[in-house]
Amino acid sequence: MKTALLATSILSLSASGALGAYQLAKEYSGQSFFDDWEFYGAPDLTTDGDVNWVTEANATAEHLAYVNGAGHAIIKVDNSTDVPYPDKRDTVRITTEDTFPLGSVFIIDAYHLPYGCSVWPSFWTKGPNWPDGGEIDIIETINLMKTNQYALHTGGTDCLASSSAKQTGQLGNTNCSSPTGGQAGCTVTESSDSSVGLAFAAAGGGVYATQFDTSGINIWFWNRADIPSDISSGANSVDPSTWGEPSAAYPSSSCNISEYFVPQQLVLDITLCGNWAGDPTIYASTCPVNGTPNANTCYYNNVINTNGSNYDTAYFEVSYVKAFTTNGSVAATNVTNSSTTSTSASGSASGSAASSTNTASAGSGGAAGNTSGAVSAFWHKAEVYVGAAVLTLAAWTMM
Ligand SMILES: *[C@@H]1O[C@H](CO)[C@@H](O)[C@H](O)[C@H]1NC(C)=O
Ligand SMILES: *[C@@H]1O[C@H](CO)[C@@H](O)[C@H](O)[C@H]1NC(C)=O
Ligand SMILES: *[C@@H]1O[C@H](CO)[C@@H](O)[C@H](O)[C@H]1NC(C)=O
Ligand SMILES: *[C@@H]1O[C@H](CO)[C@@H](O)[C@H](O)[C@H]1NC(C)=O
Ligand SMILES: *[C@@H]1O[C@H](CO)[C@@H](O)[C@H](O)[C@H]1NC(C)=O
Ligand SMILES: *[C@@H]1O[C@H](CO)[C@@H](O)[C@H](O)[C@H]1NC(C)=O
Ligand SMILES: *[C@@H]1O[C@H](CO)[C@@H](O)[C@H](O)[C@H]1NC(C)=O
Ligand SMILES: *[C@@H]1O[C@H](CO)[C@@H](O)[C@H](O)[C@H]1NC(C)=O
Ligand SMILES: *[C@@H]1O[C@H](CO)[C@@H](O)[C@H](O)[C@H]1NC(C)=O
Repeated sequence: MKTALLATSILSLSASGALGAYQLAKEYSGQSFFDDWEFYGAPDLTTDGDVNWVTEANATAEHLAYVNGAGHAIIKVDNSTDVPYPDKRDTVRITTEDTFPLGSVFIIDAYHLPYGCSVWPSFWTKGPNWPDGGEIDIIETINLMKTNQYALHTGGTDCLASSSAKQTGQLGNTNCSSPTGGQAGCTVTESSDSSVGLAFAAAGGGVYATQFDTSGINIWFWNRADIPSDISSGANSVDPSTWGEPSAAYPSSSCNISEYFVPQQLVLDITLCGNWAGDPTIYASTCPVNGTPNANTCYYNNVINTNGSNYDTAYFEVSYVKAFTTNGSVAATNVTNSSTTSTSASGSASGSAASSTNTASAGSGGAAGNTSGAVSAFWHKAEVYVGAAVLTLAAWTMM
């Protein structure tokens, strides 16, 4: 009898895709935090941001990526240089050398996330050949936005966020398809107002956990006091089926995860302005505008002609990033190295809600903060009108 009951419960767990415990496969923490990441080493041409993502050597020399006295990784914007027009400001983008397959859980524990006017940080995952390999935006926020925004970006045409998904966040755009020239992806807004910014840090920071599974993609957020014990104890396995309702849920019933997501690399980056944070209307919605508003207000008001003290809060302080898996061992690859990413003319992922590769606009060199008016207007439209779009969900039968 007991055996029969046990068998039944295992069967139902596996049928719902919530397969027990995930085993620790990779940990980035302490003095060795930066060992297995690659530094981008080139300007941000992916989101048109006003930054140079520096090499590892420069990041070390400029003290933009280091391990602090508490043993936490700091990844920050240069806040000690007066950058002249038309230059960009130095900061960091790092990508894991490893890729992680379906059947994995990614956890980031942080004490501080970057914030401030013009600041656009992200912790996200990517496959190759954006958007076809898939992208998961786990942490993403801009300017003085009060809450985190989750998103998926995919190729194809029929990966959708489900309007009936059990999630605590607020569903935004439902179409995850992000063709080149694209769209904002399928978005969910976190409900906790201590998920980013000053309030996140004041609450002792917290944890974002992402389940990347054939049954769906689920993302949880907790401030430090509420982190589940399997995570806070530092155990070698975690069990998402015990974590309750996620903030964002993208079940495979409306997006075939196996079809749209290949194994993913993890990325941490900060950009400034660019086609989301720097969009004039979006920028002005949370930040003050000094001088006559124009397409580059974000750049002029923040990035240049300042001693950098406005970027004192533009840093990640990360206790650890961990990957757990049920799916064999993690593939060690070097698919992203600085030479390939920096010269990639198209198709690299971007880590933005409005993300795509618009190298036509970004490649113009010259005035760093000067995006063409046409491109800005285009991105603005994409943000606003995609947000208003009403989509009919394809009715797929689950399992
Ligand atoms: C690294 O620093 C050197 C010296 O300041 C500079 O010439 C070079 O452009 C920097 N490279 C990057 C990728 O930031
Ligand atoms: C293991 O990972 C591969 C690559 O992402 C995927 O095709 C496969 O479905 C995964 N298997 C399970 C059981 O998650
Ligand atoms: C989602 O967007 C793609 C690309 O723009 C489009 O081809 C597809 O029809 C859209 N799907 C729905 C259900 O609207
Ligand atoms: C989902 O995609 C995988 C891989 O392309 C395919 O094998 C599977 O049949 C698809 N599932 C559904 C329900 O279409
Ligand atoms: C930087 O400028 C701000 C005002 O913009 C000022 O309050 C601060 O003292 C300056 N810091 C340094 C180190 O000069
Ligand atoms: C820059 O920001 C850091 C926090 O990341 C802070 O400790 C430092 O005092 C700030 N100012 C300068 C000039 O580095
Ligand atoms: C990836 O490249 C770095 C150097 O950029 C090297 O240290 C590391 O061992 C390589 N990893 C793998 C798995 O090849
Ligand atoms: C990494 O960059 C080097 C050039 O520095 C190139 O030869 C190599 O093929 C690249 N590795 C991958 C996996 O793309
Ligand atoms: C922006 O760049 C264009 C040329 O690409 C130039 O004509 C224009 O003056 C620049 N605007 C500003 C505000 O720098």
